[in-house]
Amino acid sequence: MKYNAVIFDLDGVIVCTDECHYKGWKQLADDEGIYFDKEINQRQRGVSRMESLEILLERAEKEYSSEEKNEMAERKNNYYKEFIKSLTPADILPGVIDFCEELKKNGVKIAIGSSSKNTPGILKGIGLDTYFDAVADGNQITHSKPDPEVFLLAAKLINEPAENCLVVEDAEAGVAAAKAGGMDVLGLGNAVKDTDATYKAENLAKFDISLIK
Ligand code: BG6
Ligand code: MG
Repeated sequence: MKYNAVIFDLDGVIVCTDECHYKGWKQLADDEGIYFDKEINQRQRGVSRMESLEILLERAEKEYSSEEKNEMAERKNNYYKEFIKSLTPADILPGVIDFCEELKKNGVKIAIGSSSKNTPGILKGIGLDTYFDAVADGNQITHSKPDPEVFLLAAKLINEPAENCLVVEDAEAGVAAAKAGGMDVLGLGNAVKDTDATYKAENLAKFDISLIK
């Protein structure tokens, strides 16, 4: 195969948690009387919780203190955790398992590179907590995407130089992060249409794996 390892983003690539993130932020915005919509939510993809809150607060009519911001981020996370409580293996996105099994069969390592601090709980919920060779997530990094830190950490955990890794991403910030880390990227879905991802597909089920063989 063309790559020794594939590093997957989690939200929107492995599992469809994006609607849960949207609903959590929407509930918080409604509590606070702040305008929020799906277009604003697109910009939060791949970005850390606190940075996502700052994006939401661009439309706020008052200034919030850092204590208030911490409370709001926690409140959103509590709403979000309620929504993701019911995740099961049925929520794994189309093509993920077939793609990973094909990689494993060919000796390609697989890892997670996600900005989310909820990564361990989500992987457990969908039954994939021991499936990957390494997991790098929001609990281990200080700079979130578009900074490449989480992907470089994932590559380090599986002992592969960046140029041997392919990243799979659904967010603009994630594609930029992979590129900044010197990695090729497979971009999935609408949000990456205008990026310079190496390959693009609607989802993993629609990706022609022979392109990386
Ligand atoms: C990313 C999501 O994977 O994780 C973002 O795409 C989210 O939308 C970020 O803000 C942080 O997630 P969490 O679970 O730590 O709040
Ligand atoms: Mg994502």
